[in-house]
Amino acid sequence: MNSLIDVSAHRDAVEIADGVYWVGALDPTLRTFDIILSTANGTTYNAFLVKGSEGVAVIDTVKEEFADEFFARLESQVEYSEIKVIVLNHLEPDHTGALPELMRRAPQARLYISRRATSMLKALLKAGEDLKYTTVATGDHVELGDRRLSFLHTPFLHWPDTQCTYLEQEGILFSGDIFGCHYCDKRLFNDLVGDFRFSFDYYYAHIMRPFKEHVLNALKLIEPLKLTQVAPTHGPILRERPRRYVTHYRELSSPALGHGIGDQEKTLIVFYISAYGNTARMAEAVNEGASGVAGVRVSLYDLQGGEVEPFVNLIEEADALLFGSPTINGDAVKPVWDLLSSLAVVNLQGKLGGAFGSYGWSGEAIRLVEDRMRGLKMNIPHPGIRVKLIPTEEELDECRSFGQRIAENLVGLGGEKAVLDFADL
Ligand code: FEO
Repeated sequence: MNSLIDVSAHRDAVEIADGVYWVGALDPTLRTFDIILSTANGTTYNAFLVKGSEGVAVIDTVKEEFADEFFARLESQVEYSEIKVIVLNHLEPDHTGALPELMRRAPQARLYISRRATSMLKALLKAGEDLKYTTVATGDHVELGDRRLSFLHTPFLHWPDTQCTYLEQEGILFSGDIFGCHYCDKRLFNDLVGDFRFSFDYYYAHIMRPFKEHVLNALKLIEPLKLTQVAPTHGPILRERPRRYVTHYRELSSPALGHGIGDQEKTLIVFYISAYGNTARMAEAVNEGASGVAGVRVSLYDLQGGEVEPFVNLIEEADALLFGSPTINGDAVKPVWDLLSSLAVVNLQGKLGGAFGSYGWSGEAIRLVEDRMRGLKMNIPHPGIRVKLIPTEEELDECRSFGQRIAENLVGLGGEKAVLDFADL
């Protein structure tokens, strides 16, 4: 394999297999993607060209600012009149920026997109009924004479529209954002570029992790395929041991806890922080009440110290989360907010939640924390408990009952009605 590949030195297409070319673009100076994602190595916008005996397919395009580079690479291999098929695995602008111009240059080409991409495509092109497109799903394919591209329906990775395209004869999977990473290296292939393991995992953690169930569904389609290369839309083309990246995705998407927790057991975590020990006493009472319910594994964590990262895995796999915070200056305290704001990368939809805490004047923390949990699509089955300063024995009993009722809801003892949340009404 050629270690001297340097695509920054020219604007030619790069052959990745017989008659299959990379026609993408390098963006080495990008430092932030989608406003929030750090891209310390820049990124690439990978697009591909497949030549068949009866026509050419273009798979994905590039960000608009890089269109010249994309068109120069296309033109190094084909005439626009030869392009019969344009596949869009995903319609985010970093892959469709050059599409309108490509359609002007190759007006005979038909677009192949997922059904969910239709409205996005029409909005993107501001086009009406005359648009030439076909929606495809798993099992559908398009022929280029001697070559066949088949489609895999892999939604929500990471937008509703996402799909993969598979070049059957060669075993090349054009995977869209799946298996991608923001790592720009002019040597293009995983066996030639620098060590991109951190970027691969970072990308997964921020882009794919909230959609783990969809990743596992996609892997059911991908794992049985013969794979000689996986060609994502960002980062290195995975031609050296491509299957290990597929295996890694399965590992990353499979439950990490498991250890010692029974399949039928539910998990409830009580997080708290306490200024004078009052919220801590409430947390212990909540813990006590919940722990008495059979089939629920209850854990109690003090957030003092402020480190939240270690808790994210735990939270992702928990069934219920309770937060105890004092109210200081009309708000919950920073470690609680730090933890709650770090949860955008995990899917909390449908988990049960609740809040409690001691206060001196007004006790707003409870409502604010509950609102945040609702914003994360959690269910808040019972109103939180506020205690003015030191909890009495009666108030601690109330905390025990609160913990018990949440735990009972988890194992189906609280009745359907108990998990109804006002936010759902
Ligand atoms: Fe690379 Fe989701 O766009």
